[in-house]
Formats: sequence, structure tokens, C-alpha cells
Amino acid sequence: MRTVLVLNGPNLGRLGSREPDVYGSADLDDLWTLLTDSAPEDVTVDVRQTDDEAELIHWLYEAVDTTTPVVLNPAAFTHYSYALRDAAALVTKAGIPLVEVHISNPHARETFRHTSVVSAVATGVIAGFGFDSYRLALDHIVRLG
Ligand code: DQA
Repeated sequence: MRTVLVLNGPNLGRLGSREPDVYGSADLDDLWTLLTDSAPEDVTVDVRQTDDEAELIHWLYEAVDTTTPVVLNPAAFTHYSYALRDAAALVTKAGIPLVEVHISNPHARETFRHTSVVSAVATGVIAGFGFDSYRLALDHIVRLG
């Protein structure tokens, strides 16, 4: 059994009711269902969300310690958290894939969202496809075997 960590940052626990015009009306349970349904049987999808920067960083340490690939939506931390970036770099420098995802397309939104301090240390970035951003990232990780 392989595990993929799907980590979500601040305010993503409110998906479903948060700005549905931007993020849609599905919530994290729906995300889990979508990803679990699209993953092969031998892949466990561990979807987590926190509003706490330290907790998110510690989950990235866990990914390093257990060699677990990561799909990461850093939410607003994307734009300013150097601490999260450094933790993400620990994952990719260890040779473990980490795909940064966004539900919306931050480049089509406010200027402050155009900068990601995480992207340069991510394996790749997928943005703007709604929950499909996560599914595409998971497909890539699964394909790596
Ligand atoms: C987001 C985009 C970020 O700018 C924003 O702060 C979020 C969600 C997205 O998934 O589109 O919380 O990461």
C-alpha cells in the first residue's frame, strides 16, 4: 500500500461555503471522495487540512521521514511563508515529489497572489482546474510508481 499526503493550508477547511464563485461548492470530504475514487486500489489518499503553519510544516517533515509524496495546496501561505517553503524544499531535496496545487488560477486574481514562494522548490505546479488540479497532481504521482 502506498500513501499520498494531500495537504491543505488555511481557510481550505471552509471549502463548500467559502467564496463558491471562486472555489466551487464542494468541500474537503468531496475532495477525498474524488481522489480516492480516481486512485488505484493500492494507493491511500490522506487528505488533511490545517490553519496552523507549524502543523503544516510538521506534516512535511513527516513526508520526509516516511518518504511519502505530497500534493500541497499551501493556500495563502503560498504567497509569503518562507518557513513553509523551506520545509517544502526538505521534501523535494530528499527526492520526494511535491506538487503545488491551487483550485483557482492565482495569476488571474489579485497581484499579491501572483507570487508563490513555494513554486521554486516544488516538483511542479498545477493551478486553475478546480479540484481537478489535485486529481492531475495525484495522477502524476501515481504514474511515478
Ligand atoms: C488557493 C489560492 C490562494 O491565493 C488562496 O489564498 C487560497 C486558495 C487556491 O487553491 O486557489 O486560500 O491556494
